[in-house]
Amino acid sequence: MQPLILRRAGFITQAAKYSRYYSTRFGYSHSRSLVFSNFGQPEKVLKLHSYSIAPPYDDIINVRFIASPINPADINQIEGVYPEKPEFTLGLGTGDKSAVPGNEGLVEIVSCGSKVNPSIRPGQWAIMSGPNFGTWRTYAQAKESNLIMIPNKEGISPVQAATVSVNPSTAYRMLKDFVGLGAGDYFVQNAANSGVGRSAIQIGRIWGLKSINIVRDRPDIDKLKEELRALGGTEVITESEAKDRRYIARITGGQPVKLALNCVGGESATNLARILGQSGHLVTYGAMAKSPFSVPASALIFKNICCHGFWISAWSKENEAAKSQMITQIFDWIRDGEFRDTPYEVTRWSEDTELDTLIEPVKKGISEYSGRKGIFVMEED
Ligand SMILES: NC(=O)c1ccc[n+]([C@@H]2O[C@H](COP(=O)([O-])OP(=O)(O)OC[C@H]3O[C@@H](n4cnc5c(N)ncnc54)[C@H](OP(=O)(O)O)[C@@H]3O)[C@@H](O)[C@H]2O)c1
Repeated sequence: MQPLILRRAGFITQAAKYSRYYSTRFGYSHSRSLVFSNFGQPEKVLKLHSYSIAPPYDDIINVRFIASPINPADINQIEGVYPEKPEFTLGLGTGDKSAVPGNEGLVEIVSCGSKVNPSIRPGQWAIMSGPNFGTWRTYAQAKESNLIMIPNKEGISPVQAATVSVNPSTAYRMLKDFVGLGAGDYFVQNAANSGVGRSAIQIGRIWGLKSINIVRDRPDIDKLKEELRALGGTEVITESEAKDRRYIARITGGQPVKLALNCVGGESATNLARILGQSGHLVTYGAMAKSPFSVPASALIFKNICCHGFWISAWSKENEAAKSQMITQIFDWIRDGEFRDTPYEVTRWSEDTELDTLIEPVKKGISEYSGRKGIFVMEED
């Protein structure tokens, strides 16, 4: 009966197949969402909120979240220390104006309004085209401009699709856009065990680049070194080993290091500037140590080091077509077994998952040496 009602109202396509998503006979679906009304520590400000989503009309697309990662930027955004601020709205039916956290995620199209491009169909996968959509929830309404459609999901896991647009994409751009690197050229990076770092190692290997990968010392350092070498890192060294210039010269055989990727700041970043060769480029994309860094005057004057910053959010806004192409390329590498996942830990999100369970991985996301990226995987109801 339900599909008939929906068809008569003209709200959705393929209603019979996807009617399982609708919790009421009038076509409304039920979303559970993390929300926050004030900036602050996630465990203090995050709440769980349920609300109804109307059937889509005109250019509206109803989507179901499949997986949403917990990235450092998401946590910084909740804390209020990230430059992109989400929109706080009463539209979700909360008492105070609220925003939904989470910037990256994978959705399945559930149903489309009558004016939506007919190539977008229920069952297809899409990822968010830009930041601030609010991905830590189970259902939402989107427009085509919010989504990058995934034309071929064959051979791609939900987690791989949900995590492609920030970390692998950032690594890809930084290796490609700042200096011409050819096969056999060296780059160096700190926090090489991060999501971005592991992506840079693998993309570098695919493009024939050599990498010096710096990580912080820890009790199981040999295991981590082995893991990153297995991804294709040419050499993996600790922060203290990286301070020994002769050791670095032995690794490179005196070849200049052309590019440095800085995730950390502080002393670690200063050391990257020292490692770079003549006219090398230092690209900063993270500030995990929360500490500014200095670049020795000699590196600027005599070595002509060039310093840049990179932000995937800003790049994505200007480069929509190139972003889709890049993601298609990364998916091809995943299908070919060339590109492996960053270690992750799933938190299952079902109809009765409680707030404490959802907050736990968010708290872990800001702790050091956590080793695994948290990811919400939403269970279909
Ligand atoms: N600019 C952009 O477009 C862009 C894009 C993606 C990510 N990012 C930024 O890049 C950074 C990494 O993101 P991710 O998702 O790859 O992170 P991730 O997988 O969670 O890894 C975090 C990394 O930071 C290191 N770290 C944590 N605290 C540290 C500290 N106090 N000092 C030094 N290193 C520390 C960790 O090393 P340990 O294992 O030693 O703790 C780990 O290597 C974040 O700041 C994120 O916001 C920026």
